[in-house]
Amino acid sequence: MVIDASGVRFVDPFGLTLLGASFQELSDWGQRVIVCGLSSDVGGYLQRMDLFTGVELRDCAPVRTRRHNRQDALVELTCIVDKNAASDAAGRLTSALIGAVPGIDRNEAPDLMTGRTQADRLGMPIQYVLSELLENALSHARRAGRQGARVWVAGQYYPASDLVRLAVTDNGCGFLATLKSHPNLRNQTHRDAILTAIQPRVSCNRDVGLRADTENEGVGLTMVVRIARSAGGKALIVSGDAYHDPAAAGGLLRGGAFWQGVTIALELRRDRLGSIRIAELLPTLEGMARVPLRFE
Ligand SMILES: Nc1ncnc2c1ncn2[C@@H]1O[C@H](COP(=O)(O)OP(=O)(O)OP(=O)(O)O)[C@@H](O)[C@H]1O
Ligand SMILES: [Mg+2]
Repeated sequence: MVIDASGVRFVDPFGLTLLGASFQELSDWGQRVIVCGLSSDVGGYLQRMDLFTGVELRDCAPVRTRRHNRQDALVELTCIVDKNAASDAAGRLTSALIGAVPGIDRNEAPDLMTGRTQADRLGMPIQYVLSELLENALSHARRAGRQGARVWVAGQYYPASDLVRLAVTDNGCGFLATLKSHPNLRNQTHRDAILTAIQPRVSCNRDVGLRADTENEGVGLTMVVRIARSAGGKALIVSGDAYHDPAAAGGLLRGGAFWQGVTIALELRRDRLGSIRIAELLPTLEGMARVPLRFE
């Protein structure tokens, strides 16, 4: 497959994870991928992000690494396969992103009351979101015959706009496959499956009873959307042939496009991160089954 990249001017973490996942998929199918005509800036950026493992670059401008070295603000593209590596990866990506924010003092003494530093306060919502999304991608995405699904994650802090952008992309079964028997799903469409998945307390592992041993609360995605809103940011959720933007609307992807799996992009305002209180955003307990408490 020969890809003409001469028109590419900018790639954000969302694009990066989609490209990483697609290149990997192509090479799993035994396809050779050749990327042509990359400019020096974009090529340098993508190479630093380790995007081109196994990809041949042809007729690309030489990379000027020195002039555009923004290593401090970058978090490389990471592909995670091992479920046990998810929480480490979330922690590592969070500290790399927070480390790129100017004025963060890594040696700051923790606040006496809360025991937290400014870096902890800014990092907490990012780490929460990444852990939830990685956990989903390494569990639910691997149902319905997609046991080998992988997840790609990337993030970047943009100093000029003071924004953190994150993306988590899997090549798993997608929302519709896990929620097709859920009572809240009205139509068997990818669009409805996205809308159902983000409702509080909806889980394939709670109401559908796919597994009897453990149960999920069904709050992960609801929290991701709430955190994005509280951080003055945006969320974009894509699965199958549909997309949803909780702040605006959604619909079908243009041009017959289809993503096998789930891909989520988030944009968070750095100046709002410190004021987010995760506990206050949790869905209330109404609608939960009553559990008799015994104290003997
Ligand atoms: N990456 C994914 N691939 C396929 N289905 C997914 C994916 N992420 C979420 N889902 C579906 O959406 C449902 C809701 O996800 P959510 O994270 O809100 O809840 P949960 O993971 O079931 O529970 P919790 O996050 O509280 O442990 C999941 O139960 C699953 O059916
Ligand atoms: Mg979850």
